[in-house]
Amino acid sequence: MYNAFFGFDENPFSLSPDPAFLYRSQQHEEALANLIYGVQSRKGFIVLTGEVGTGKTTMLECLRDYLDAQRIEFAFVFNSRLTPKQFFELVAYDLDLRCDRTSKTEVLIALNDLLLQQAHQGRTTVLIVDEAHNLDWEVLEEIRMLGNLENRRGKLIQIVLAGQPELDRKLDAPNLRQLKQRIVLRFSIEPFTEEQTTEYITSRLAKAGLPEQAVFTGDVLSEIHLRSQGIPRVINAMCDNLLLTAFAMETRIATVEMLDEVCLDMRLEWPGARRVRGRGRSTGEYEDVSTYTPGD
Ligand SMILES: Nc1ncnc2c1ncn2[C@@H]1O[C@H](COP(=O)(O)OP(=O)(O)OP(=O)(O)O)[C@@H](O)[C@H]1O
Ligand SMILES: [Mg+2]
Repeated sequence: MYNAFFGFDENPFSLSPDPAFLYRSQQHEEALANLIYGVQSRKGFIVLTGEVGTGKTTMLECLRDYLDAQRIEFAFVFNSRLTPKQFFELVAYDLDLRCDRTSKTEVLIALNDLLLQQAHQGRTTVLIVDEAHNLDWEVLEEIRMLGNLENRRGKLIQIVLAGQPELDRKLDAPNLRQLKQRIVLRFSIEPFTEEQTTEYITSRLAKAGLPEQAVFTGDVLSEIHLRSQGIPRVINAMCDNLLLTAFAMETRIATVEMLDEVCLDMRLEWPGARRVRGRGRSTGEYEDVSTYTPGD
């Protein structure tokens, strides 16, 4: 809506996990390098965790691009609230297995054939499961067994599990001891530091067509970091609303007052919120807006 007004080619703060807008923070860079290394090394399970909205799916989308470019076969399971039967059906569908996809036995036979055929050509195959913290124990157990498939040169299928921090806790459960032992890489994505938040916003604006941005001043950038707690999805929502507010007021410069309004509308809560809000109000009173916390 405001793109033409600010001179953007496209929306700089869309909420989709689009690799075209990737900001390579050190940890995102490391996460991607780990994912690629883990897949190439053919050792088995890789686990990526991070709080809500920190960029896990974005990393998986980057991995998907890499696998596509390398012509490595993969299945991407993004809906993790599945029964074992639905799980096998999805895997069969994604890998285009020619069999009765509703029969677990047939899927396993066809999958094994594909894995061996790929291995014969010197290629590996990858299973990516997003939102893996939601997986049922039964499905996790099936995934563990898929991880057992190997030939003498290594595992036939590399398995990437990504999810919220509950996933780490789930994998520590005694009944998943065997799966835990097979995890070769386990790493997490943390929220941005203040410097990274600024670089992130600047990078997204540049990618959208504004290389020398003057919309967000230093003060506003600091406040965005404080209030978003460095979580990319919250930063995007804040910046998008802020641009919309500035556009409505016909100005190309965002202010902290506009940000106050945006945070109120988003019902956002952040450390020190009461102090900051109280400061601007003549009565010193504070409206309780404690319903939205970054990371929820
Ligand atoms: N390094 C990054 N570069 C560019 N955009 C990013 C980056 N990290 C996160 N984002 C953006 O932040 C938003 C949330 O990212 P994403 O959906 O990947 O988070 P998530 O960790 O998968 O969240 P959830 O836990 O809800 O699944 C998206 O709009 C995404 O584009
Ligand atoms: Mg996600």
